[in-house]
Amino acid sequence: MNHHHLTALILAAGKGTRMKSDMAKVLHEVYFAPMICHVVDVVQSMSFDDTIVITGHQCEKVEESLEKFGVSFARQEQQLGTAHAVLSAKSLLKKAMGTVVILCGDTPLIRAETLEQMLEAHFIASSMLTILTTRLYEPTNYGRIISDTNGNVLRIVEQKDATAIQKEIREINAGIYCVNTNFLMDCLAGVGTDNKQGEFYLTDIVEIANESGHAVNKFVCLDPDEVLGVNSRVELAQAHAALQARFNKALMLSGVTLMLPETVSIEKSVLVGRDTIVHANTHITGQSFIGERCLIEPGAVIKNCRLGTGVTVGAFSYLNGCQLADGEKMDPHTVRIGR
Ligand code: UD1
Ligand code: CA
Repeated sequence: MNHHHLTALILAAGKGTRMKSDMAKVLHEVYFAPMICHVVDVVQSMSFDDTIVITGHQCEKVEESLEKFGVSFARQEQQLGTAHAVLSAKSLLKKAMGTVVILCGDTPLIRAETLEQMLEAHFIASSMLTILTTRLYEPTNYGRIISDTNGNVLRIVEQKDATAIQKEIREINAGIYCVNTNFLMDCLAGVGTDNKQGEFYLTDIVEIANESGHAVNKFVCLDPDEVLGVNSRVELAQAHAALQARFNKALMLSGVTLMLPETVSIEKSVLVGRDTIVHANTHITGQSFIGERCLIEPGAVIKNCRLGTGVTVGAFSYLNGCQLADGEKMDPHTVRIGR
């Protein structure tokens, strides 16, 4: 693959009205980090030349939450829609050219592997615009993919603008696009606000691309969970559980026993040795290191601790910043901070 200039553009200026919160949506925490951080983490694990985040609502706080990542910011002063959000980065994108991958700050489950496969398909097809789609049993609230009888993508219709028949379509827009930067700018110039919400919809570029004679490609994501868009606290909880489940699965495959894993919270930063058994309702967070063959009884809370080999932590204990020697046994209900 020739080296193109590759930019990741993440939209994160919206308020997130459906969260019913005083805090900007992308700052709500999912699996131990603001949800925007998961998206930035994913793109930074890939070979993008630069990452631009569009901020607006509570822009200072959102930018502060991303301090450690070293990304660029473009501000969208008024939130007039997703197409308008992309246009806020116009001058930064002009400098970059090449290809841009547009993502939303509210889809924290997306995986780098999927984005890589999508980009590869985009380049192999010499596509101008490739959109990520998936099929959902419950497509409500997502933009629906309108296709012709041959399966070619014609346009995207938002939930609020969809007819009853269009609402039955289960193929949805994940809100992730690979697009030639020049072409994107041309298409954006044609986006208007003739829709129920009176917003500039980024999704309109699909129809505009078709009208200009450029077929729109799609990349179908087989795992619908990956493109979960968090709009309310219901999806916030789903996203958190899904990310925790991913990490717990990796832990189990590495040789750690988790009893009732759906009740066990372990942060990604934690290392756990083989043949350790972690019982239900346990929380292990921070820079914690759990040795091999440890037994963590139900309901333990362990933060920033180092446990040697064969340590037992009794049920309902609270340990914060502790060092436990090999073979040490903590009684149930132990509270220990430091040492
Ligand atoms: C959007 C898509 C929809 C898709 C869904 C996937 C449009 C018009 N619709 O809908 O087709 O199925 O995502 O999750 O694009 N944002 C800004 N500035 C704005 C408006 C939004 O930065 O002016 C940001 C938000 O912060 C958010 C993202 O764009 O991160 C998506 O906005 P949101 O309002 O959640 O769009 P959806 O209604 O979910
Ligand atoms: Ca959304």
